[in-house]
Amino acid sequence: MTGIPMQWIKVAENSDALLFNAEQIAVVTVAGQSYCIGRYKEQLFGFAYRCPHAAVPLSDGYIDTHGNVVCPLHFYKFSIVSGRNVSGEGYFLKTWPVECRPDGIYLGLLFTPGPGEDPACG
Ligand code: FES
Repeated sequence: MTGIPMQWIKVAENSDALLFNAEQIAVVTVAGQSYCIGRYKEQLFGFAYRCPHAAVPLSDGYIDTHGNVVCPLHFYKFSIVSGRNVSGEGYFLKTWPVECRPDGIYLGLLFTPGPGEDPACG
């Protein structure tokens, strides 16, 4: 438990609106920050837009048959479920939950309150 509240942000009206590429990766933007959403076995997973190794866009990579995103530059592999660097180089990919609700697709992001902000009163 981090103590940081989760904030669910609507990123699309439905999964068709996410504009997945041929590799089943879509990019969404929240407050000027890009995030990847990967589709694997009909489930959606949020993960960092940039590779934790050398920051290339993971949207240019692909999702393998085990549910790992494979970076397009050095081919390191990361689980889109847990963020674990399954190819063993010692990096970690940030991941976020995605929910498909009747009114849209939501990405769950951690909200870090600024000075004087109370997330419970938002
Ligand atoms: S930049 Fe992604 S593995 Fe090196």
